[in-house]
Amino acid sequence: MVSKGGGENSILRHTQRNKKLFVRERLKMLLDDESFLELSPLAGLNMPYGDVPAAGCLTGIGKICGVWCVFMANDATVKGGTIYPIGVKKQLRAQEIAMQNRLLSVYLVDSGGAFLPLQSELFPDKSDGGRVFYNEAIMSAMKIPQVAVVCGSCVAGGAYVPTMAEETVIVDKIGTLFLAGPPLVKAATGENVSPEDLGGARLHSKVSGCSDHFAPSEKEAYECVRNIISTLNYEPLPEEVMEYDDPLYSSDELLGLAPQGYEYTLPVKLIVSRLMDGSRFQEFKADYGTTLVTGFGHVEGHLVGIVASNGELSHDASLKGSHFVQLCSQRSIPILFFQNTAPHAAEPTSILQAEAHTNRLKAQASMMAAVACAAVPKITIVIGGCYGSESYVMCGRSFSPNFLFLWPNARVALVDSRHFSTIPKADDSDCKGDELELSHLKEKLEEESSAFYSSARLWDDGVILPQNTRKVVAQCLEIIKQQKYQVISPCQYPVIRM
Ligand code: COA
Repeated sequence: MVSKGGGENSILRHTQRNKKLFVRERLKMLLDDESFLELSPLAGLNMPYGDVPAAGCLTGIGKICGVWCVFMANDATVKGGTIYPIGVKKQLRAQEIAMQNRLLSVYLVDSGGAFLPLQSELFPDKSDGGRVFYNEAIMSAMKIPQVAVVCGSCVAGGAYVPTMAEETVIVDKIGTLFLAGPPLVKAATGENVSPEDLGGARLHSKVSGCSDHFAPSEKEAYECVRNIISTLNYEPLPEEVMEYDDPLYSSDELLGLAPQGYEYTLPVKLIVSRLMDGSRFQEFKADYGTTLVTGFGHVEGHLVGIVASNGELSHDASLKGSHFVQLCSQRSIPILFFQNTAPHAAEPTSILQAEAHTNRLKAQASMMAAVACAAVPKITIVIGGCYGSESYVMCGRSFSPNFLFLWPNARVALVDSRHFSTIPKADDSDCKGDELELSHLKEKLEEESSAFYSSARLWDDGVILPQNTRKVVAQCLEIIKQQKYQVISPCQYPVIRM
């Protein structure tokens, strides 16, 4: 459903009537190959305002001229490429990834601007539409180059994306750029003007200067982008061929190991052994704090530190985690978290237990600080539960991992719906709820905990199949590595269009 954008009729209208390429065809022309990492493809599904396939905008990371680049490409088959609130969120996340990993960015703009019925949810606030343009300036000042292609309408807000970019290409007879389109001109002044005359490729390349390159066709526009990228003075990754062993055990077995519920969780080393090169794992503190597994291994030749949940995060496990995370930070080794956090913590029943809980809390706080401040890239894979406070310690979204993916069985919530019935119900107290109310709440919680509910709202960077985890992690590690090869000198100003 997502790969078909706005549906077959809409694609036909887009390609035959409007003579434009479908967004996935555009990416094929732009990128070196098809092995790009698509981000949050399920965003926008089943939203309160309906289904918005891929949030109306494809984002991801692919190579152009050997350089990893973030792309953001409107899909005009989804309501004319208009921007929904979830589309804004998706673009902002893509920009955040570009900033955190220092990746140059390419925008393919084909958008009717704001989706007007939802304007109050995408215009006024700090993290709303305008933030995309603000980020463009900040990214340029950070020396993160940005290139835009106007390959369709760029109306209203959409017009600022290419105008704020460092270099812009516009496609003849296809690209138009204006703040108010011909219908608005007609309504305001009574003039009939064609989109081409109002803001077409010739006008913006010859008169306004909003575009820097005129492309006679879409194909030539993407070639032009490749030429621009080859002049960015940007070093591609060295072409080193890394030798590595496959894991000894098949990754297909991960399907059987993915925890369906916390109570069925198997030792996490069974999962780790199916992801590491040669199934080799240099374990750190193997016999201490065993509810967390820590150690070093390689994923397709990349050295990583592993921090994997293996039960409730105890006091000793948290101390071990803090120690290990600091080791990785000290040695500049990226950290890979496998998160499967416990749905609830047992309530203390005695003073002694309360003391143990407090000590555990302190140890978890230490680990949280270590994780938050570790100056290395972090990747989190939620392989089971992402519940409550332990999820922060295990580098959940609020701890800003560079990438966060979910397995389809993952559950994301403050509490587990299956334990909801165990909440004490005092018959005569104010907090009593009747059975029906509780069952509704349970259903709601159940629905809101699913990996798909999470991914639709961009609480993660996508749902991945367990058997693809190794490939995705290796790709992320390679992408992260690119910044090692950049020469970064301080720059305080963005490139300003004159
Ligand atoms: N808000 C909400 N819906 C919009 C929209 C907008 N800004 N712009 C277009 N749509 C909807 C259309 O109503 C149509 O919906 P439908 O398929 O349910 O009928 C769908 O998007 C496709 O639009 P359509 O005009 O049929 O497609 P097109 O390819 O011929 O043209 C645009 C696309 C974007 C060029 C054209 O629709 C347009 O100019 N829209 C107005 C843009 C605008 O003024 N934006 C101001 C934002 S502040």
